[in-house]
Amino acid sequence: MRVFRTIAECRLWRQALDGDLGVVPTMGYLHDGHMSLVRAARGDNAHVAATIFVNPTQFGPNEDLARYPRDEERDLALLRGAGVDAVFAPSAAEMYPDGFSTCVPVEGLAARLEGASRPTHFRGVTTVVAKLLNITAPRRAYFGQKDAQQLAVIRRMVRDLDINTEVVAMPIVREPDGLAMSSRNVYLSPDERKAAHVLCLSLSLAERMYDEAERDATTIRDAMRALIAKQPLADIDYVSIADPGTLDELDVVDRDALVSLAVRFGTTRLIDNTLLRAP
Ligand code: PAJ
Repeated sequence: MRVFRTIAECRLWRQALDGDLGVVPTMGYLHDGHMSLVRAARGDNAHVAATIFVNPTQFGPNEDLARYPRDEERDLALLRGAGVDAVFAPSAAEMYPDGFSTCVPVEGLAARLEGASRPTHFRGVTTVVAKLLNITAPRRAYFGQKDAQQLAVIRRMVRDLDINTEVVAMPIVREPDGLAMSSRNVYLSPDERKAAHVLCLSLSLAERMYDEAERDATTIRDAMRALIAKQPLADIDYVSIADPGTLDELDVVDRDALVSLAVRFGTTRLIDNTLLRAP
């Protein structure tokens, strides 16, 4: 497995390839959610690359950039074991040299939900993903449904900018108790970790209400909020039931709907979601 630190080396490798390349962009500290994307990419493409870059531009001033967990050696061993051909792991200076002054904001979509709490987050994500796709020029790029809004924003950018890459979405990988895997789960104290179970419980409640023919979005949101509010360590940021493409909030669940939420446990903010499919 090759490991590239510079854009030039990565490009040279890319240009010599024959056959499809699949790319899995990550911020490292890999878990089975990331590895599920790698396995899918390995199955679909002749060549697979992963990127590891803790992207400073997608962290807000009061967010966890400095303490974001890192373990590159372990990440590289996992990727090597999964049959990845190359890893692009640049420094921040390589990606954002002095004088860097361009960004790729996706309007509308990126201001909702996560964007309301984290106003500069998605333009950091789309800028770095645009750069990574330009550098690696993959046939396919793999993203997790775990970050449903990120996926929607990236799909929109790829479409709007005619980026010649197919965006492939993969399902959420969960811990045995249902908590969605996330690099940030390591921040949770044992009590917070237990309390965080309420996230998937509240999503299951929404699914059950929908299955039992409840179609009023406010009734479902209120029931989810009430369930989460019973957990004293949980502090709700948002509970949303929205159109999965536009992220417009729904009054009536009369089509496919994305149920998503962000909840704080102490200083750790977790997100999760599920899709309600129209029958
Ligand atoms: P990161 O949080 O490292 O996630 C990398 C990819 O793994 C994303 O597409 C994310 O949705 C996916 N992923 C994370 N947890 C998952 C889970 N439990 N199940 C399935 N997929 C999961 O998302 C980012 O990095 C960054 O914003 C990035 C796109 C790399 C741009 O910097």
